[in-house]
Amino acid sequence: MKFFIDTANPGEIRKAYEMGVIDGVTTNPTLISKENRGFDSLIKEICEIIQDLPISLEVLGLKSEEMIREARNLSEIGENIVVKIPMTSEGLKAVKVLIPEGIKTNTTLVFSPTQALLAAKAGSTYVSPFIGRLDDISQTGMEVVEQIVTIFNNYGFESEVIVSSIRHPIHVLEAALIGADVATLPFKVIEQLVKHPLTDIGIERFLADWEKVPKK
Ligand code: E4P
Repeated sequence: MKFFIDTANPGEIRKAYEMGVIDGVTTNPTLISKENRGFDSLIKEICEIIQDLPISLEVLGLKSEEMIREARNLSEIGENIVVKIPMTSEGLKAVKVLIPEGIKTNTTLVFSPTQALLAAKAGSTYVSPFIGRLDDISQTGMEVVEQIVTIFNNYGFESEVIVSSIRHPIHVLEAALIGADVATLPFKVIEQLVKHPLTDIGIERFLADWEKVPKK
């Protein structure tokens, strides 16, 4: 299972990357805007930290022609750039053009298994169901992921499922049990995954007991 980090904060990306658990980065316009700085210099810094792993950057155009133009420009930044395209009919048209050009795509804002099926049929490299936002409206997001994984396995689609809009470690556990290809995690969730109170207590006890050992 791959873990991407869902942030545009270079400090968080660096810390997670140094932990050795990160296989890529996903951003979106909201995450970029939180950084309060110029897009170009921000992306340059992120690309310096993550040189050889996929980094998803999102287009803003709503028409396929605009999406294609933006995607071509973004892909100039580096070979590891993956272009996030919204799940609309214009987005599907854009994916269909970009994939044969060798531009990787991440179809985003996916909320149903049938949307995911369409994105896979268009050939999208990744498909991103947003589970937390479904949970927020009282629909179990993880059921959608389960159905998407079944459909992709049924037909051998190569698109990878990125479980997105993750809110807590249970989402990560459930995504792993389902067998989703990727989970994209906010930095806070990575920290929560690391922590266990019994680990902290265990370290404390070992250190205290070691104090009692004569050193010679
Ligand atoms: C995924 O690529 C998105 O950036 C992200 O997971 C959205 O999460 P949110 O619902 O917490 O904004």
